[in-house]
Amino acid sequence: MIEVTDLHAYYGKSHILQGVTINVQEGEIVALLGRNGVGRSTTCKAIMGEVPPTGSVKFKGQEIAGKKSFEIANLGIGYVPENRDIFPGLTTRQNLILGLKPGQKDGAGRWSMQNMFDMFSNLKERADVEASVLSGGEQQMLTMCRTLMGDPEFIMIDEPTEGLSPQMTQKVAEILQEIAKRGISTLLVEQKLSIAMDIADRVYVMGHGQVVFEGTPEELRTRSDVRKEWLEV
Ligand SMILES: Nc1ncnc2c1ncn2[C@@H]1O[C@H](COP(=O)(O)OP(=O)(O)OP(=O)(O)O)[C@@H](O)[C@H]1O
Ligand SMILES: [Mg+2]
Repeated sequence: MIEVTDLHAYYGKSHILQGVTINVQEGEIVALLGRNGVGRSTTCKAIMGEVPPTGSVKFKGQEIAGKKSFEIANLGIGYVPENRDIFPGLTTRQNLILGLKPGQKDGAGRWSMQNMFDMFSNLKERADVEASVLSGGEQQMLTMCRTLMGDPEFIMIDEPTEGLSPQMTQKVAEILQEIAKRGISTLLVEQKLSIAMDIADRVYVMGHGQVVFEGTPEELRTRSDVRKEWLEV
């Protein structure tokens, strides 16, 4: 589905990504782990074209490195950034509609607005109020739902459970599994090791702008050396 090879990215003179190679296959949930500042979010931004990448990013076999973000989104890649990226002055419903691609009708893709309301009753109750009054967790949900409305085939979700209650966190884990069930591939950036270990098919651990471990959650469980050196604080 997505094949990233030797990806480099810079902020000014700082060489942040130093040859990241990862892939996500169809219907897989792949977790991207690592301590703060190692470049997990930058990896997502470089794939999305929000940070200029060098190296190769292939989506369903097509080279997309160098394309503009909106072109990449229209090809079928969704990105849920770590900041709660809502339109505060618009209602919940209007925010969701803005997730549709140009010309796409609600219900034409894998997800409909009704699906979102069925999954998140909080959003349903607040469908017609300004998104600015939603709680931080609800805004997080809304950002994720808005991206799903655009019917991506591959979605990158950056720390979706940050700041959420245990109950909301559980809900997000369920949605991530539902996303996989519908055949969508997911790259999940997570701090909470437990969630990643529970739901990911494979994990990558990043350190200093590179992948330092790749394997299944089972394999990572046996590698206390990797966890000690690259994950635990
Ligand atoms: N816009 C920017 N300008 C300059 N440097 C940046 C910018 N964004 C991030 N960086 C730097 O790039 C490095 C990687 O940042 P990135 O956001 O990818 O980290 P991360 O792994 O997502 O960690 P976290 O989300 O916990 O901060 C960090 O050292 C960060 O300070
Ligand atoms: Mg980040």
